Amino acid sequence: MKGIDCYTKDMKTTLVIFGITGDLARRKLLPALANVIEANETGDLSIIGVSRRPVDKFAVLGDHHGQLNGTTTLFQMDLDRADDYARLRDHINPQDGEQVLFYLSVPPESASGIVENLGKAGLNAPGNKLLLEKPFGRDRASAQEMIGRTATYFTEAQIYRIDHYLAKEMAQNIVTFRARNAIFSYLWNNQYIEKIEVVALESLTIEGRAAFYEQTGALRDLVQGHLLQLLALTLLPLHDDLNWDSLPDRRKAALDAILPSDPVRSVRAQYDAYREEVGNPESTVETFVSLELRSSDPQWHGVPLFLTTGKALSRKKTEVRVHFKKTNDAQSNYLIFKIQPDEGIAIDLVTKKPGYDREVEHQKLSYMYPVGTRLPDAYEQVLVDAIDGHKGLFATSGEVLRAWEILAPLQEAWRDDPAIATYPVGSDARDVLGQV
Ligand code: BG6
Repeated sequence: MKGIDCYTKDMKTTLVIFGITGDLARRKLLPALANVIEANETGDLSIIGVSRRPVDKFAVLGDHHGQLNGTTTLFQMDLDRADDYARLRDHINPQDGEQVLFYLSVPPESASGIVENLGKAGLNAPGNKLLLEKPFGRDRASAQEMIGRTATYFTEAQIYRIDHYLAKEMAQNIVTFRARNAIFSYLWNNQYIEKIEVVALESLTIEGRAAFYEQTGALRDLVQGHLLQLLALTLLPLHDDLNWDSLPDRRKAALDAILPSDPVRSVRAQYDAYREEVGNPESTVETFVSLELRSSDPQWHGVPLFLTTGKALSRKKTEVRVHFKKTNDAQSNYLIFKIQPDEGIAIDLVTKKPGYDREVEHQKLSYMYPVGTRLPDAYEQVLVDAIDGHKGLFATSGEVLRAWEILAPLQEAWRDDPAIATYPVGSDARDVLGQV
């Protein structure tokens, strides 16, 4: 079998999806697969959907039956039975020069067992890859344990840890924008930047994922991966030319420099319908978090780094705002990477208002994708990159562990003092901040 670095588009790929009947597969994975197959981005691909119970293929593939039916077979097995993995191996029957990708779209408690069984069944050959979904542990210790167990069977080079925020079109554009626009390279440091804000506001509630969210909360769900990674993309060292394969090391360098969180500079809250929704009147799980971090990197010394996220807010908005230092209060000073919706880049400018009175107004100098541009969903990029063996947009074990280290002081403080404020569903994030 060829090594994974040798993949070429004419090679055959078998994608084995554990959890094909789950929510993530239905909402993200299957639509993304349908699109990348249609765009001819997958080479020779066949899909095996693993399920525990007998299921109807037509029902599983849903709206994407048309694009996926021909390439997909279903395989029923008991995920805890070693014998069933031998059956799976025979069913896949990988040939020389083929690669097999195992996509674990399963609850975290099932993932380690599947990895172990795959390894024991010899399904961890060098040409095989493992695609893992977060959460990567609950804290540093559990993440370390999970990483250790996976490493028994799969090398780090075979492991693709998905943080779909890294693969969002505009998240990738943060790096391109920084690398390719000289004006901003000069300004990208604490001499000119006053503060950086990363926000991911959601209007959706937890959408029935009570068991998952009660174990997780906003800090683990959004901050540990998505927000810290967007921050890392904004801060990472980019003195030389951009090489996408070097991104994990650069993000890790940015995360290494971020100082552990300070509980005093953080707030958390819970939306008021949450306890009823999860059926736990005592729940102290946070659905809103805002925290201020600092970096020890001399380039970022003294620059406050704010991360804010919440569910059940007035609107969906994910963006990175870079505020520049003003030379006087009448100036405008910020640049926005609009991650979603209305993807684009905007600079707030103060301009003269047309007329005789020399009044001023705020205008946006902005780039938005032309109407009709199709932006690939992040999961499409994840699939294409995993098949092609490009690891730049996947989180390494080092990044995962460092992110937990940064958040450890908050986790400890919240464990010691679980009391939490509430906010009404549909609140504006600023009101939540003003009230907690
Ligand atoms: C997931 C979280 O990782 O990201 C969800 O588990 C969250 O709670 C989702 O809603 C948001 O993703 P997106 O791409 O819709 O911003």
